[in-house]
Amino acid sequence: MNELIEKCYENKLNREDILKALSLNKDKASLLFQCSEKITTSLSKIVHIRGLVEISNICCRNCNYCGVRAKNTKIQRYKMPLEEIFDLSLEMDKQGYKTIVMQSGEGNLYNPKEMADLIKNIKSNTNMAVTLSFGEHSLDDYKLWKEAGADRYLLRHETANSNHYSYLHPDGTLENRMNCLYNIKNLGYETGVWGMVGSPRQTLENLVEDLEFIKIFEPAMVGIGPYIMHNDTPFKGEKNGDIFLTLKVLSLVRIITRDAYIPATTALASIGNDGYKKGLKVGCNVIMINRTPEKYKKLYEIYPNKRCVKEDSDTIRKEIEELILSSGRVSL
Ligand code: 5AD
Repeated sequence: MNELIEKCYENKLNREDILKALSLNKDKASLLFQCSEKITTSLSKIVHIRGLVEISNICCRNCNYCGVRAKNTKIQRYKMPLEEIFDLSLEMDKQGYKTIVMQSGEGNLYNPKEMADLIKNIKSNTNMAVTLSFGEHSLDDYKLWKEAGADRYLLRHETANSNHYSYLHPDGTLENRMNCLYNIKNLGYETGVWGMVGSPRQTLENLVEDLEFIKIFEPAMVGIGPYIMHNDTPFKGEKNGDIFLTLKVLSLVRIITRDAYIPATTALASIGNDGYKKGLKVGCNVIMINRTPEKYKKLYEIYPNKRCVKEDSDTIRKEIEELILSSGRVSL
């Protein structure tokens, strides 16, 4: 056991070690958590606050787990006008946000050139970094947006196992996903990957494959949350992902990457108690605050009971800043 933890400190985990670490019981996992927390805070005590704007819930894909999948006709679809996004970005800049994360479903929702103009306008009128999360696009689109000034791109690979990928995504392939990710990285974006813990048919071996992929790809960001069942999807009735396993995975991502941006995700805070706090304790160093306008927020229902929908963003931000301080960290 101590040998395993030593290997964690030295970042020398092989596949077998990772599998063992994922199987640790509550008592023993506390040493793993201590290790990832120490690695994090010895590098920096900063927890980065990002402002998330869900600009549209329109989506052409049919991911079997996701509530905004194209075939879900029960939700009302919206698309924020570009001017509204720009005005919101000015407001967020005034409120001290350092990053705007724009997220949407996948497809040709906005004209790529008009989106590039919006990115340029945000970059020249605010001090914020711009993160995009619009799913799979052509190399040309990624290039256009990078040249417009976008800094980061989040494209969760969801699972690094191609059979599992096809089971989750009836209309996508892992190969396409990976091509997009390498295109994004090669263009110079700070790139974010991963997905859910506990999605249907995911095995511990699959998680090992994800962690091995992280080692090779060296992403700047790794976003992970538990799978949360949505009734209006083909995965209706499946079990939610396990919080304890999610925390072990987060801890291992910290151990393997050392300095990646790892958010304590909304999904982690939406099931169980004290998700943000637990995430910070195992080495998370980012929290995204949902800044989507109230009228749209409830419509971006990728899973039910999203934590951010019940409270307004100012209240959540205050709570989170207090939580960061009480966890012995500082917010930026
Ligand atoms: N539970 C948890 N996470 C989900 N996502 C989508 N649907 C769910 C769900 N039901 C995650 C996916 C996607 C991101 C936007 O949200 O990983 O990439």
